[in-house]
This record gives sequence, C-alpha cells and structure tokens, in this order.
Amino acid sequence: MHSFRIVALMGSLGSVLAQNMSVCDKYTTALLKDNNSTNQYTLLTLLVNTVVIGNYTTDPAPKNAVPGILVNGTYKGKEVNLLPYFDGTLLSSNRGGASGVSINFLDDGGAEPLKKNMPANGKNSMQYKLLTHLYQFFGKLLACSTYGTGDFPAYSGHSMASAHMFMDLGPSEVGYFIQQVGLAATSFGVSTDDVTAVAGALDMLFGYRCSPATEVIPEQGKTLNSICQNELCPLDRTPTCAAYPNNSTVVEPGTVGMNGSATGTGLGVPSATASGVSVFEGKVGSVRAGIGAVVGALAFAVAL
Ligand code: HEM
Ligand SMILES: *[C@@H]1O[C@H](CO)[C@@H](O)[C@H](O)[C@H]1NC(C)=O
Ligand SMILES: *[C@@H]1O[C@H](CO)[C@@H](O)[C@H](O)[C@H]1NC(C)=O
Ligand SMILES: *[C@@H]1O[C@H](CO)[C@@H](O)[C@H](O)[C@H]1NC(C)=O
Ligand SMILES: *[C@@H]1O[C@H](CO)[C@@H](O)[C@H](O)[C@H]1NC(C)=O
Ligand SMILES: *[C@@H]1O[C@H](CO)[C@@H](O)[C@H](O)[C@H]1NC(C)=O
Ligand SMILES: *[C@@H]1O[C@H](CO)[C@@H](O)[C@H](O)[C@H]1NC(C)=O
Ligand SMILES: *[C@@H]1O[C@H](CO)[C@@H](O)[C@H](O)[C@H]1NC(C)=O
Ligand SMILES: *[C@@H]1O[C@H](CO)[C@@H](O)[C@H](O)[C@H]1NC(C)=O
Repeated sequence: MHSFRIVALMGSLGSVLAQNMSVCDKYTTALLKDNNSTNQYTLLTLLVNTVVIGNYTTDPAPKNAVPGILVNGTYKGKEVNLLPYFDGTLLSSNRGGASGVSINFLDDGGAEPLKKNMPANGKNSMQYKLLTHLYQFFGKLLACSTYGTGDFPAYSGHSMASAHMFMDLGPSEVGYFIQQVGLAATSFGVSTDDVTAVAGALDMLFGYRCSPATEVIPEQGKTLNSICQNELCPLDRTPTCAAYPNNSTVVEPGTVGMNGSATGTGLGVPSATASGVSVFEGKVGSVRAGIGAVVGALAFAVAL
C-alpha cells in the first residue's frame, strides 16, 4: 500500500504525467531554452527566490502575483506568519542540541541579492546555505536531469524531519508554504496540471505526521520527511511515530528575549499581507479528500 503510494509519488514528481518528461527539464526548455545544468539551476533559483520574497522578476514577467513566505498570510482562514522562523526571532533551528536555537537566515543581504537572482551577497552565510540547499533539494524533487552534475550541485543538507524538528509546524504553515510554491510555479507558466501534481506530492511527502522513512535524495538513502510535526497535522496512513524520537520536544518554539542575538532582519520586502490566495486550495484540497493526494493528483491530471 505504502510503497505503491511512494512509487506513484516519485512518478508524479519525476515525470510530467503522460509525457514522462521532468518538470524541471520541461520548464527550463520553455523558459530558458538551453536545457543544461546552468539553466536548470537558474530555473530553481527563480522559483525558490520567488517562493521566498514573492514575485520580483520582470523578465520573465510573472503571470500572477506571489506574496512569498516572509509576509503575513492566511491559509484556509488561518493566519500564517513564517518570518519569525527565518529572522532569528524564534529558538526554532536544529543545531544538534536538545532544543532549538535562534538563527537569522536573512543575514547576507536579505531580499536584495534574491532580487538579482542570487542566493546571498556572499558565500559564507546562513542565508547562502539555506537558499542553495533549497535550490538543490527542490531540483531533485522536480527531477532536474542535471542534478548533481555541472553547475547543479547535489543536496548536502539534513533530512526534512530533523531540519524542521524544533519548529512545531502545523498544517496551515506547511499548507501556506506549498501554496506559495504553487503560485510561484504558475507565475512562471507551469501548467495547472503540473502544479497540482507537484503540490499534491509535496503535501503527501511532507504534510503528514510520523511518515515512515522514504528516499528523496538518493545519495542519502531513506530519511524521515515529515515537516508537519505538531498535533494538528494529519497522521500518515502508515505512521511510524517511534522513528521520530524527538517528537516530545516538538513544542512551540520560544522567542529570543532581550538576551538573544536576534536583531533586525535587514529584509527589504514590503510587509504586505497576503490573503485569500486560493487558486490551488480547491484542487489540492479535493484531491486530499479523495483517494490520497498523490494518486489522486495523478488521476485528476490524467482525467483532464
Ligand atoms: C513543502 C514544505 C517544505 C520543504 C520541502 C522545505 C524544505 C527545506 C529544506 C530543503 C531546507 C534546508 C535544510 C538543510 O539545509 O539542512 C529547509 C530549511 C528550513 N526550512 Fe523548510 N521546507 C518546507 C516547509 C517549511 C515551512 C512551512 C517552514 C516554516 C517556517 C520552513 C522553515 C525552514 C527553516 C527556518 C529552515 C532552516 C533550517 C536550518 O537550517 O536550521 N520550511 N527547508
Ligand atoms: C513512463 O513512466 C511510466 C511510469 O513511470 C512507465 O511505466 C512508462 O513505461 C514510461 N513510458 C515511457 C515512454 O518511457
Ligand atoms: C533535457 O536534457 C536531458 C538530458 O540531457 C534529456 O533527457 C531531456 O529529454 C531534455 N529535456 C528537454 C525538454 O529538452
Ligand atoms: C548553458 O547554456 C547557457 C546559454 O543558454 C550558457 O550560458 C551556459 O554556459 C551553458 N551551460 C553549460 C554547462 O553548458
Ligand atoms: C507581482 O506580480 C503582480 C502581477 O503580475 C504585479 O502586479 C506586481 O507589480 C508584481 N510585484 C513585483 C514586486 O514585481
Ligand atoms: C533527534 O535529536 C538528535 C539530537 O538533537 C538528532 O541528532 C537526531 O537527528 C534527531 N532525530 C530526528 C529523527 O530528528
Ligand atoms: C509522538 O510519538 C508517539 C509514539 O512514539 C505517538 O503516539 C505520538 O502521536 C507522537 N506525537 C506527535 C505529535 O507526533
Ligand atoms: C544569555 O543566554 C545564554 C544561553 O542562551 C546564557 O549562556 C547567558 O548567560 C545569558 N546571558 C544573560 C545575561 O542572561
Ligand atoms: C505580521 O503580523 C504580526 C502581528 O499580527 C506583526 O507583529 C508582524 O510585524 C507582521 N509581520 C509582517 C512581516 O508584516
């Protein structure tokens, strides 16, 4: 049952349904013409930077607005505010200790370098590491054919369960993040079918509690992938909660007080509020309500 789901999942991530073409390769060709490692990495840079700071490009011009994950938003009526996890406000980062620590991931230029299609101003910062890891990880998820070769480095970060272990993330937060990925993708011309398949796969892989170890990054073998870890998260259909030994430490992360080192973010994004962005909610939601997000997403897309 479960392994069938995972096969279907990786299939939907790896290929664009009937054509068996990778999402990454397909849209690299569409947007940047030459389907090589440089351009595939650029595609992931455009996508991830847009997810983070909202739409910023003029060439290609965005087909829709993307608020991004750093502004206050809402997901299914619930307020979402992810910035405190990124700017050092919360003691929510895992650095191997028994509890979370404060890290400012906007420590190398904030939004400014991202607007120039760069991860950070320099290469020795928390911001550089996080952004490049996101390009690499999503590059593998979207099946970039040059992943790990040429200008496309392989992912060398931690498992999703352990990276997000002290964040106490719930369905609204993970749902909002995935929604921004979907909006960023459509803003670059990714079809609704492809976005639905990818969003459904992200939800299935990361949006459930206690999911069993599965392979996402081949070099890393099977890893724990649940990002949604708090008690509001739906339980995986084949839960292995005992494999998440730290789940008793998943509590609402504390805030850095006067004694913390967290200061201003230096972030140059407008503090607009994103609300009512619901382009994909209906589809992803109905998929989940059906026979399972990924298998459902495939059936949905094939039916069209
Ligand atoms: C589909 C959902 C998500 C995916 C695929 C994802 C993916 C990733 C990846 C690949 C990393 C790099 C880990 C490393 O370098 O070891 C990361 C780190 C991080 N993510 Fe997520 N993420 C997701 C949702 C979220 C959400 C909802 C938040 C909420 C704030 C979040 C906050 C962070 C933070 C703060 C880090 C830095 C962690 C650290 O270096 O300690 N992520 N994420
Ligand atoms: C496309 O992928 C499916 C499932 O991964 C596989 O069964 C099929 O043989 C592939 N078709 C082609 C033409 O490669
Ligand atoms: C991109 O290149 C890879 C390998 O170099 C190839 O398998 C794939 O079919 C190409 N895709 C497109 C859309 O050109
Ligand atoms: C990929 O193609 C672009 C031109 O579109 C070129 O600038 C770049 O050097 C090429 N990268 C590789 C690795 O060949
Ligand atoms: C984002 O995209 C929307 C819709 O195309 C546009 O109206 C808005 O000006 C863009 N914002 C930025 C900062 O480019
Ligand atoms: C549990 O916590 C320890 C110490 O912080 C860490 O090394 C380990 O990777 C964590 N396990 C999981 C499944 O996140
Ligand atoms: C933590 O793990 C226990 C069993 O090991 C499980 O019963 C419980 O549901 C888990 N809690 C969360 C929030 O995942
Ligand atoms: C601030 O917190 C650190 C540990 O987080 C502690 O070692 C230090 O003594 C604290 N300083 C003050 C002034 O409370
Ligand atoms: C988000 O809202 C909170 C309170 O509702 C506010 O303190 C914070 O400044 C807002 N953040 C942004 C980026 O607008």
